[in-house]
Amino acid sequence: MTFPVERPRRLRRTPALRRLAAETRLHPADLVLPMFVKEGIADPAPVASMPGVVQHTRDSLRKAAVEAVEAGVGGLILFGIPAVKDARGSGADDPAGIVQVALGDLVTELGDSTVLMTDTCLDEYTDHGHCGLLRADGSVDNDATLARYAAAAVAQARAGSHVVAPSGMMDGQVAAIRAALDADGHPDVAILAYSAKYASAFYGPFRDAAECAPSFGDRAAYQQDPANTDEAIREVLLDLAEGADLVMVKPAMAYLDVVRRVADAVNVPVAAYQVSGEYAMVEAAAANGWIDRDRTILETLTGIRRAGADIVLTYWATEVARALR
Ligand code: PBG
Repeated sequence: MTFPVERPRRLRRTPALRRLAAETRLHPADLVLPMFVKEGIADPAPVASMPGVVQHTRDSLRKAAVEAVEAGVGGLILFGIPAVKDARGSGADDPAGIVQVALGDLVTELGDSTVLMTDTCLDEYTDHGHCGLLRADGSVDNDATLARYAAAAVAQARAGSHVVAPSGMMDGQVAAIRAALDADGHPDVAILAYSAKYASAFYGPFRDAAECAPSFGDRAAYQQDPANTDEAIREVLLDLAEGADLVMVKPAMAYLDVVRRVADAVNVPVAAYQVSGEYAMVEAAAANGWIDRDRTILETLTGIRRAGADIVLTYWATEVARALR
């Protein structure tokens, strides 16, 4: 019997050999924690479809943010849920709006010790739940919405955001926000563009968490068709041309081919958002005893990094950061 010359198993024999040979590493600094803060609640409110995730009060947000930073996460991204919503999403750019005041708290508490990011969109603030202003026929008015995004980004920058993250998939949103930030004296505030954001069923639990399910229709006329990848590259290149500093693919696990294509196509940091439905699937299966929760979480994150994501937004960020230390 002749033995093969190549024996790949040699490098798998012990944990130390596997660690030395690993091509992909998870590091706490590559993880970003999405956080929800709700106006006018006395206690944190659990999100039923996302066990372990809450809508924070200003106070509980501050504490959870400090814990995340102490665990070593790379950054935080904040979503606000206002007490009152209206057609134009007034809470998005109100200096006294929940995201702006909660961000102020975090700036006071954390300063520049972490990266404070804000989701820049209207759906959490509109009574109809769409990401933009509506025309009479119910369609989203792209160009009228740009001015609202610009105002929201400026309000977030004034409140201390280091990175604004437009997530509404309006054409021209990055250029409109860049121009508004520069004109208001924030040339150093960066833009993380949700460039390739798909019209996904995986956002279901988020819409509970942010109370932003569209009251009619869906987002397919502005978010991308899950069938496409060339379109993702086009969106990414447009966002870079408009001034994006970082680009994102969302969701993550069902779009790892897109993450890889984007990572190969650009020379800026690429983020991937492991969204609410990805979190909920793993938590639900684990709660049933059907999968090993901790191993599954690390495997999903390793897969997203292996596909080419430099930064991963994940609701498990604090827990995983602690486990990696
Ligand atoms: C829009 C926004 C959404 C998510 C992040 N930003 C919802 C949507 O587009 O419907 C989803 C995140 C998640 O599912 O975890 N502001």
